[in-house]
Amino acid sequence: MALSRVLSLCLAHICLFASVCFAADPFVFYNFDLSYITASPLGVPQQVIAINGKFPGPTINVTTNNNVVVNVRNKLDENLLIHWSGIQQRRSSWQDGVLGTNCPIPPKWNWTYQFQVKDQIGSFFYIPSLNFQRAAGGFGSFIINNRPIISIPFATPDGDITILIGDWYTQNHTALRKTLDAGKDLGMPNGVLINGKGPYRYNDTLVPDGLDYETFEVHPGKTYRIRVHNVGVSTSLNFRIQNHNLLLAETEGSYTVQQNYTSLDIHVGQSYSFLVTMDQNASTDYYIVASARFVNESIWKRVTGVAILHYTNSKGKATGPLPDPPSDEYDKTFSMNQARSIRWNVSASGARPNPQGSFKYGSINVTEVYVLKNKPPVTINGKQRTTLSGISFVNPSTPIRLADKYKVKGVYKLDFPTRPLTGPSRIETSIINGTYRGFMEVILQNNDTKMQSYHMSGYAFFVVGMDYGEWTNNSRGTYNKWDGIARSTTQVYPGAWTAILISLDNVGVWNLRTENLDSWYLGQETYVRVVNPEATNKTELPMPENALFCGALSKLQKYVPSSISAVIVNPFLNSHPFSSVSFFRPQDVSLATSINSRLKLFFTLLMIVCAVIPTFH
Ligand SMILES: *[C@@H]1O[C@H](CO)[C@@H](O)[C@H](O)[C@H]1NC(C)=O
Ligand SMILES: *[C@@H]1O[C@H](CO)[C@@H](O)[C@H](O)[C@H]1NC(C)=O
Ligand SMILES: *[C@@H]1O[C@H](CO)[C@@H](O)[C@H](O)[C@H]1NC(C)=O
Ligand SMILES: *[C@@H]1O[C@H](CO)[C@@H](O)[C@H](O)[C@H]1NC(C)=O
Ligand SMILES: *[C@@H]1O[C@H](CO)[C@@H](O)[C@H](O)[C@H]1NC(C)=O
Ligand SMILES: *[C@@H]1O[C@H](CO)[C@@H](O)[C@H](O)[C@H]1NC(C)=O
Ligand SMILES: *[C@@H]1O[C@H](CO)[C@@H](O)[C@H](O)[C@H]1NC(C)=O
Ligand SMILES: *[C@@H]1O[C@H](CO)[C@@H](O)[C@H](O)[C@H]1NC(C)=O
Ligand SMILES: *[C@@H]1O[C@H](CO)[C@@H](O)[C@H](O)[C@H]1NC(C)=O
Ligand SMILES: *[C@@H]1O[C@H](CO)[C@@H](O)[C@H](O)[C@H]1NC(C)=O
Ligand SMILES: *[C@@H]1O[C@H](CO)[C@@H](O)[C@H](O)[C@H]1NC(C)=O
Ligand SMILES: *[C@@H]1O[C@H](CO)[C@@H](O)[C@H](O)[C@H]1NC(C)=O
Repeated sequence: MALSRVLSLCLAHICLFASVCFAADPFVFYNFDLSYITASPLGVPQQVIAINGKFPGPTINVTTNNNVVVNVRNKLDENLLIHWSGIQQRRSSWQDGVLGTNCPIPPKWNWTYQFQVKDQIGSFFYIPSLNFQRAAGGFGSFIINNRPIISIPFATPDGDITILIGDWYTQNHTALRKTLDAGKDLGMPNGVLINGKGPYRYNDTLVPDGLDYETFEVHPGKTYRIRVHNVGVSTSLNFRIQNHNLLLAETEGSYTVQQNYTSLDIHVGQSYSFLVTMDQNASTDYYIVASARFVNESIWKRVTGVAILHYTNSKGKATGPLPDPPSDEYDKTFSMNQARSIRWNVSASGARPNPQGSFKYGSINVTEVYVLKNKPPVTINGKQRTTLSGISFVNPSTPIRLADKYKVKGVYKLDFPTRPLTGPSRIETSIINGTYRGFMEVILQNNDTKMQSYHMSGYAFFVVGMDYGEWTNNSRGTYNKWDGIARSTTQVYPGAWTAILISLDNVGVWNLRTENLDSWYLGQETYVRVVNPEATNKTELPMPENALFCGALSKLQKYVPSSISAVIVNPFLNSHPFSSVSFFRPQDVSLATSINSRLKLFFTLLMIVCAVIPTFH
């Protein structure tokens, strides 16, 4: 007992010394080298962003409460941040990888993310969050498995398959950026990629010869967990597998009520797990299809991804037409009803053994209400911009979280309006003042003619309602107060609203944005700042030791990666017209080695302590 107390104390001291405390949960290490490669997924050679030489990047596969350490090396020619979409970063928005919380990693630099996937399970992904890079790759899947002691609400699948789908342009991301900067629309994508590959040649007219396509080999009679993520730019995709039912089981960290779908609409930024049983006769291979939705499908035929499901006993190639998409041209409620049918399994365990539904969100009183409305792009100061509630967001040169920490004034305004502004739109760094432990209701009102999806960092929110028309107070009568799904990305139909509820229990600065990359790039986002008024170190982890400094705090940058000590870094490579993030060239090279070795010593110590402590419990 005395010994364990000593050890706890010693652990506490190490935690204090190094400003990080992760207790005895295992560490998992990854190295991510981001670089350009030339690839031709649609038959046209183009510049693509690879991780460790691969496109898409590797899957991160960890278990609840693991400490994940990812050393990211930026071998691109522009700033970089990796954002872990759907990973809640509890108590540590420092690791979220967006400009509101992190200084960008300059070219030739590396930066190590370190975070715990606390109390989470499910299917997520990561993306590069700056400079339109996502349109060029740099993404991959992120799986959090349950701990063995916690049962999952279905039989253990016979295999696990990851499918990244997304619309794709054969233009590189700098060219796409230029198009947007010039006030133009990106137009129809050139196709849809499945795991970085072009479509199977299901039709000689529509698909050129010689494209590499994705094949998944499966065993007859087995059941697979198929995780599907839409990592594309802006197109909603209908996902289906010929002749096979998709039994929906999980979305973005919540187990759903299990239901069969013949196809499901997957919007940009959304993730789903399906259980699929290989119950067909294998007379041929089967098509896996992801086709464009909510556009004129007869014009957008080329925007279709096709992969192959190949049974080991298959007797031939897939032939004939693709399975039909939903035929709801004149029924705009079909897709919305499908979205409403996705519900939380309140009796299933989540990351913890207690039922998901034991957090009774329907009986909690709302403390603050925000109506966020987007409109079609507008022109502000001669530039095309997108808005939320009349405000087009511009990232500050000093990240918000860092500005708070160092009490830098004037970086942002805490004045985001609770209702959409009625006057002319303006460009601002205006963010939402969230109340710690408050319960926030956000109504997302889509006044555009395009489908939107919204994502919030740091949280899973409850999707309690959606409908066409303008939201009013009376709309609350239609809310699902019992089994609305908890997730991190929701769709908002054109001319419709979606209502979400958020329990503001995670201290930090959290990005709330559209997932449509063109709209995000042009300003359709904000942040929710959640501060614990009580001065304590318990509700938020300290700033990481390796934090980068930029903007007003550039002078605090003490070290520089050894790989570039002699190289002059161009601090103004970021070509976004409204992003003023700049980077000072660090001067103090000598400190680098000393800090690096201190970090190494710290990790070694921590791992020894972590290894020893459980023995004495
Ligand atoms: C990106 O695309 C533009 C326009 O097509 C082209 O001029 C440029 O060379 C491309 N850059 C790279 C690195 O491929
Ligand atoms: C993830 O790792 C577990 C072992 O921890 C393994 O059983 C599982 O197959 C892996 N999943 C994927 C998709 O690699
Ligand atoms: C950069 O990578 C080295 C290992 O190659 C590591 O020791 C160092 O901590 C990393 N730098 C940062 C800022 O994470
Ligand atoms: C919900 O979860 C429970 C508990 O794991 C499970 O037994 C049940 O089959 C699930 N219900 C549905 C409809 O998915
Ligand atoms: C291929 O697609 C074209 C254009 O949509 C269509 O006219 C043609 O019938 C299709 N061919 C087959 C074999 O389905
Ligand atoms: C889903 O479909 C499969 C057949 O593919 C069937 O065996 C299963 O019972 C269905 N499950 C539900 C919940 O409808
Ligand atoms: C296999 O299934 C297909 C589609 O259901 C059917 O058309 C075909 O006749 C079946 N073949 C055999 C050999 O049972
Ligand atoms: C889709 O485009 C086709 C071809 O231009 C046109 O004939 C059709 O009316 C369009 N459909 C809708 C719903 O706009
Ligand atoms: C919610 O508000 C109502 C009326 O204002 C109050 O009676 C009730 O106790 C509150 N519920 C909770 C859980 O605070
Ligand atoms: C932000 O909200 C807190 C309550 O959560 C309040 O005390 C504070 O005055 C607000 N700040 C601003 C600038 O409105
Ligand atoms: C946008 O808002 C205006 C004014 O409230 C309304 O008349 C129009 O129908 C809305 N359009 C859409 C697509 O929601
Ligand atoms: C929190 O920790 C920092 C060191 O990481 C220390 O300087 C500060 O005093 C602590 N604050 C409180 C309220 O304990």
